[in-house]
Amino acid sequence: MNKPIDRVEGFSKLSQIEKRQHVADVLDNPNEVLELLAGFAHQNPEIQELLSEFSENTLTNFPLPYCISPNFKIDGKNYLVPMVIEESSVVAAASNAAKFWFDKGGFRTEIINTEKVGQVHFIWRDDLYKLHNNFDALKQQLIAGTMDITENMRNRGGGILDIVLKDFSHEEPGLMQLFATFETVDSMGANFINSCLERFASIFKDWYNQLDHPKDDGLEVVMCILSNLTPNCMVKCWVECDIADLDNYVPGTSGEDFARRFRTAVRIAQVDPFRATTHNKGIYNGIDAVVLASGNDFRAVEACGHAFASMSGQYRSLTDVQIDHGRFVFTLHLPLALGVVGGLTNLHPLVKLTNKLLGNPSAQQLMGIAAAAGLANNFGAVKSLVTTGIQRGHMKMHLFNIMKQLGVEKHEQAPIIEYFKDHVVSVSEVRKCLELIRDKAQA
Ligand code: MEV
Repeated sequence: MNKPIDRVEGFSKLSQIEKRQHVADVLDNPNEVLELLAGFAHQNPEIQELLSEFSENTLTNFPLPYCISPNFKIDGKNYLVPMVIEESSVVAAASNAAKFWFDKGGFRTEIINTEKVGQVHFIWRDDLYKLHNNFDALKQQLIAGTMDITENMRNRGGGILDIVLKDFSHEEPGLMQLFATFETVDSMGANFINSCLERFASIFKDWYNQLDHPKDDGLEVVMCILSNLTPNCMVKCWVECDIADLDNYVPGTSGEDFARRFRTAVRIAQVDPFRATTHNKGIYNGIDAVVLASGNDFRAVEACGHAFASMSGQYRSLTDVQIDHGRFVFTLHLPLALGVVGGLTNLHPLVKLTNKLLGNPSAQQLMGIAAAAGLANNFGAVKSLVTTGIQRGHMKMHLFNIMKQLGVEKHEQAPIIEYFKDHVVSVSEVRKCLELIRDKAQA
């Protein structure tokens, strides 16, 4: 039984050892817990300190597998793609799909735009004409007043692109916003954008107070924050081949039949949000794994992609299939705001390795690589779904987890793997098989 948990003051000020002790003391096996937490800490104290400082109240590390998906050809260049993911079949599916498309030209990408977004939300309780008539002057002041913040970014080819007024007063009295767009080049740009927005707010308030007859409550800035919805930071990624090249890709299935069933599966995800959610989840299996390996923010990437998938008014598939003049074209379109500088990218040793392995890509190249991983996973999942079914591959990968869970010894693995080459995997079936092997061994 765990002990009751009391309100605690100053937890964040405790040392890491004290924090571990505090947590372990709540449990009925504190010594085991302390050993577990210590066991997952990095042996190199400098690396541990670095990892601990990425977050607050760190007790230890929570490792995830750092994997490689080989045989990705993207825009004519070959990659070993790093993926951080705990789901066993994702890397296998991505690798199989990448290998299949390797000889067919690989993945092609096109960056459609790289614009980021930030908003200053405010309530306007004065005459609207004052704002509209003087907005151009205000905009100049906002741009001039952030020159110190934007200097480095401008030197790298980025900066503020535009600032426009948006009016939401039909939804909420007086609600408006400064809607600003930015180019952040190789960084994701969150800190840069938020700093600009907070400066905008203070310039805006000063500007208002210098107008004729400002009111005490004429302008109320509610909040300043970037938007994770970046529909103009878009990547398109596609693969294509002759339909005849799909003949016997799944043994015994013609290319035409495979392409037709595949296209129907994607259509289902375009018309039915229930299927679209799972379909897009499969796309993010690949994307998130690359986003994590490259030290980017997968929550931001997912929030953006799912909002984008709903922009027609209904949540839909992010991929599409065209079958035309004997060609099969499979395309992923999605907004993806990634960085290769700033944040974790220059700090985490494995993120540095990812960038090195990928040939120190630009943010735009990384967008293409992540999109290719997403398209590869979607191709693998839909292919399995419309042919063998997903469980065969999944459960084969899962077999290793089940064997571990059931305490299968090393020498017992080979006959179990052999047996499940042509039997359906389930926990109960593996248990039965194991019991048989053990009975035989004792006999
Ligand atoms: C599982 O992680 C992902 C799939 O469910 C995706 C899909 O259904 O398309 C296999």
